[in-house]
Amino acid sequence: MSSRTVVRGGLVITAADEIHADVLIEDGRIAALAAHGTPAAEAWTADRTIDATGKYVIPGGVDAHTHMELPFGGTFASDTFETGTRAAAWGGTTTIIDFAVQSVGHSLREGLDTWYAKADGNCAIDYGFHMIVSDVNDDTLKEMDLLVEEGVTSFKQFMAYPGVFYSDDGQILRAMQRSAENGGLIMMHAENGIAIDVLVQQALARGETDPRYHGEVRKALLEAEATHRAIKLAQVAGAPLYVVHVSAMEAVAELAKARDEGLNVFGETCPQYLFLSTDNLAEPDFEGSKYVCSTPLRPKEHQKYLWRGLRTNDLQVVSTDHCPFCFVGQKELGRGDFSKIPNGLPGVENRMDLLHQAVVDGHITRRRWIEIACATPARMFGLYPKKGTIAPGADADVVIYDPHAEQIVSAETHHMNVDYSAYEGKRITGRVETVLSRGELVITEREFTGRAGHGVYTPRSTCQYLT
Ligand code: URP
Ligand code: ZN
Ligand code: ZN
Ligand code: ZN
Repeated sequence: MSSRTVVRGGLVITAADEIHADVLIEDGRIAALAAHGTPAAEAWTADRTIDATGKYVIPGGVDAHTHMELPFGGTFASDTFETGTRAAAWGGTTTIIDFAVQSVGHSLREGLDTWYAKADGNCAIDYGFHMIVSDVNDDTLKEMDLLVEEGVTSFKQFMAYPGVFYSDDGQILRAMQRSAENGGLIMMHAENGIAIDVLVQQALARGETDPRYHGEVRKALLEAEATHRAIKLAQVAGAPLYVVHVSAMEAVAELAKARDEGLNVFGETCPQYLFLSTDNLAEPDFEGSKYVCSTPLRPKEHQKYLWRGLRTNDLQVVSTDHCPFCFVGQKELGRGDFSKIPNGLPGVENRMDLLHQAVVDGHITRRRWIEIACATPARMFGLYPKKGTIAPGADADVVIYDPHAEQIVSAETHHMNVDYSAYEGKRITGRVETVLSRGELVITEREFTGRAGHGVYTPRSTCQYLT
């Protein structure tokens, strides 16, 4: 049965354009756009009309970095695929790319199948997977080729977390060489974990156990060093590189330099690095634990370099690295030893709003907002133009966004399954009103009308962002 929806009277914003247009949706896809008020648009008949007068009509957000149910530090990230994707929808995100995990001694296949099963039938919005490679060997290198063919076209490696996810330089080089051949994209957690672990032990031995020491031992210079090393290894391998959760201005400088040399090197940052700082990590009464993530929050002066990187395209993507742990019972595992605080912040629901606030504050333009939050993550990870834009043929993942609504972010009103908000009390201008995923209403005028299982696994092509 065919179904038609028309969204009338809004300002359609994509990475490329801003136009006052009506949008025709047919059978889950964008069928046509036509200038508002023209005979072509007036002629459309539909089963459902959404009035977007005075609102923005934007592509659903693509959050390329989430960790639903991630096992970490003896516990699990508190959002399941069900609760986390529902919260994402509330925040105007209609696609997530989460991370399947290979555990040491096991195959990529086993890890991926485990994550397929966790997500299957539970998601409110569409999803894909990257693969965390924790154990590079002859077998896993061959498996990487198969995964690329299957639509898992990106692989995360860690220069941090020795004994858990850590890869040494030789393992990283081998995976990069393989990705240079099979078209995969290596995503790097760039921090010198071996050096950091020494500094952690020294800090604890001095009795420095509070959350703020997490920020002190995970030094910006050790992020910059690892970023530099990853870039050089990628250059040797002839492979592209995507550095995740960039927080240090020194790391941005490494990326900028490599890009000036013409390398296919890309950087992602996250809202927490743009809006929060070591001041939060230093909050008393163990409140700082709410802000423990890696790479860590940096002193405020780093923020302007991140914003600049987003404007100059030395940073291309803003993802959340959504990895929530409740304060009670989870963050508290690290009382008396900051190294036992599970790493990660909630944010999948907040990203589109925080970046709209950045538009209001003058850091980025409206089109750049859509570019870094929707279009480029879709291109970077092989989902474009199905996802990330509003154009004929694209999936009808569409958000009606009210740019004038005022809201105050709070754990009392958010939908993520976590007992605090990293942005508690923050005032934001702009709010998601209605969200369609493949033409189905998942949020209708600020009511959840979606369902677990509407979201489907979405295989990806290889990176579409290479020069
Ligand atoms: O602290 C973080 N970022 N937790 C999630 C795992 C990772 O390294 O991305
Ligand atoms: Zn096994
Ligand atoms: Zn990481
Ligand atoms: Zn992450």
